[in-house]
Amino acid sequence: PIVPIIMAGGSGTRLWPVSRDTMPKQFVTLLGSDLSTFQATVKRVSGPAFGKPIVVTNNEFRFVCGEQLAAIGIEAEIILEPVRRDSAPAVAIGALLAERRMGNVVCLVLAADHVIEDEAAFVADCEQASAIASRGFIMTLGIKPTLPSSAYGYIDPAEKKLADNAFGIKRFVEKPDREAAERYVADGYLWNSGNFVFSVDTMLGELERLAPDVLAASRKALAASQRDLDFLRLDEPAFTEAPTTSIDYAVMEKTKTGGVLAASFGWSDVGSWDALHDIKPKDGDGNVVEGNALAMKTRGSFVRADEILTTVVGLEDVIVVSTHDAVLVAAKSAASDVKALVSDLKAKG
Ligand code: GDD
Ligand code: MG
Repeated sequence: PIVPIIMAGGSGTRLWPVSRDTMPKQFVTLLGSDLSTFQATVKRVSGPAFGKPIVVTNNEFRFVCGEQLAAIGIEAEIILEPVRRDSAPAVAIGALLAERRMGNVVCLVLAADHVIEDEAAFVADCEQASAIASRGFIMTLGIKPTLPSSAYGYIDPAEKKLADNAFGIKRFVEKPDREAAERYVADGYLWNSGNFVFSVDTMLGELERLAPDVLAASRKALAASQRDLDFLRLDEPAFTEAPTTSIDYAVMEKTKTGGVLAASFGWSDVGSWDALHDIKPKDGDGNVVEGNALAMKTRGSFVRADEILTTVVGLEDVIVVSTHDAVLVAAKSAASDVKALVSDLKAKG
């Protein structure tokens, strides 16, 4: 079976003030379903094609993670990171643990913050990618872009076919600026969906070559890890030595073993309020109005009130989100700047 490795330790600051450091977006119910995207992700890979999942997350999220798994009745191995080091060390830890358990198996790394529409198509794509991955490729699942966003990785598929709908990768560019993104969309690049399929040997070999310090720190942290109830705690001094870098920068931009399978499922990264506005059902004026909120003479807007009564009138293309202790008012076109806003807030303490 394919071993799922779920990366659930990110912070998702573009969805502030609902997504917080202490309760990031993957654990929040943002979509009107009663499952968080983390729970939906775990369920998506609970079928017969998959083995027991490995969840890699931050120590701070251990209880919410454990509770949310219990609520859907799925057992997983939960690995706790003592500090944030982004996704490259998380992938290394997952691959090392899979190797320790089962040797050179095929792994599927999953982001915990996506919406995927056709689950059966997703599983079929993963199985097809898995067959190619066992030939030594690190497979990505490519999505046809709908706008020149700088929030994604872009993939230029090579001419060389690996299978039906699957190609080598000529170039992988993580988070290009807007201008470059426009060119890439015009040139037929695909978005990286943020899920990866590879065999343990291929990924560990590429980490060894391209990010040896990530691999060395991860190895040490796992070797000195301690079991604590249902959790496996990585050794803090060892893991702290890992550089902070994502798998996209550390491996995917550099590797020559990359492949891409054109995804056949509907995909959305619910990364920002405007993305969420896009995928939610809207009223006749193009508004999404949720919770204790009221909107009048308003168009194209997203108004969400988790607690205090929140009212808007005469607005267009605006995002208003209120929680018990913070309010965000933003132009929809500035939705991705919320990330910078939050780092400003943190800098000011
Ligand atoms: N365990 C752990 N530890 N997980 C982490 C950490 C960490 O320090 N940092 C991030 N993650 C998890 C997040 O929770 C998420 O599930 C996943 O790794 C991806 O991290 P993001 O921070 O959400 O990355 P991104 O959205 O900016 O970019 C990635 O996804 C895009 C698609 O949504 C890249 O892979 C892009 O290339 C891709 O297009
Ligand atoms: Mg993301």
